[in-house]
Amino acid sequence: MNNPYIPNLVVIRKITTENEANDIKTFELVFKDPEAMKNFKYRCGQFAEISVFGAGECPIGIASSPMDEGCIQFTVKKVGVVTTTLHNSEEGTVVGVRGPYGNGFPLEKMEGRNVVIVGGGFAFTTLRSLTKFILHEANRDKFKDLTVIYGARDPGELIYKYELEAWGKRDDINLNVTIDRAVPDWTGLVGFVPAVLKEVAPSSDNAIAIVCGPPIMIKFTMPVINELGFPPENVFLSLEMRMKCGIGKCGRCNIGNKFVCKDGPVFAYKELEMMPKEY
Ligand SMILES: Cc1cc2nc3c(=O)[nH]c(=O)nc-3n(C[C@H](O)[C@H](O)[C@H](O)COP(=O)(O)OP(=O)(O)OC[C@H]3O[C@@H](n4cnc5c(N)ncnc54)[C@H](O)[C@@H]3O)c2cc1C
Ligand code: FES
Repeated sequence: MNNPYIPNLVVIRKITTENEANDIKTFELVFKDPEAMKNFKYRCGQFAEISVFGAGECPIGIASSPMDEGCIQFTVKKVGVVTTTLHNSEEGTVVGVRGPYGNGFPLEKMEGRNVVIVGGGFAFTTLRSLTKFILHEANRDKFKDLTVIYGARDPGELIYKYELEAWGKRDDINLNVTIDRAVPDWTGLVGFVPAVLKEVAPSSDNAIAIVCGPPIMIKFTMPVINELGFPPENVFLSLEMRMKCGIGKCGRCNIGNKFVCKDGPVFAYKELEMMPKEY
């Protein structure tokens, strides 16, 4: 029987520093065994457990798109033991990956509809995966209008700047990047994500909203989502609870009778309304 805790070995092929504070990096990983790469079929919004040998493992959302071939990417903020050791690793280092885990975003439900993506801070990682997926030439026709609202504290905190610039030039995405407070040389939007969402006011007709960000952003974004008329069954949030095993065994991530690692991390707002407010 396969042991689900044994990770696949992957090599860090490329490290990209994403922000000025140097505490968020994107790691591009290549499987040592090409068969394992083929078998690692994931959906946008899923996560994996990354092991850094000698330090431990932790769950990280998959930041690449399933349309990206030959590698997977994770964008990681340096906060503690595992993430700091990963940040200190060099290209060529071997780490472990097990997964993919969780349910991911409801792509089937989103097809044929307008999609509104709202994200803040470095939680934009899996939303980046989703945006890339929708914008891919093989998928773009399957979805209607795409509106993205993404906010960070200041321009130095924005991640994926190289992609935001390219997306901003396309006419098949309504991209709204905002920073919390005005700073010299910033010519984009200024204001908190909920205020920008209210101003952009995407229609809730035939639309699905995906919201991901720090709790304070979620708290003030949800009333705006409600005001815009999105029914709770058409709004999805991704939770980042404390997790350990990632596979429904350790009981670390329970909310009521749900395992966030298996039943989530993506939940319809309608479902969350019926769950204990432990997230
Ligand atoms: C489904 C899921 C997806 C995630 N995706 C990403 C991602 O894409 N990029 C990313 O950088 N991080 C992500 N995280 C968070 C990441 O798992 C934690 O930051 C990581 O476990 C920290 O490990 P560490 O050993 O470096 O820190 P530790 O030494 O374990 O802890 C350092 C500090 O962080 C706090 N902490 C650790 N984990 C969490 C957590 N999950 N929630 C709140 N506080 C925590 C601890 O209380 C402590 O204060 C995700 C978490 C989940 C559950
Ligand atoms: S993380 Fe172990 S049960 Fe969910």
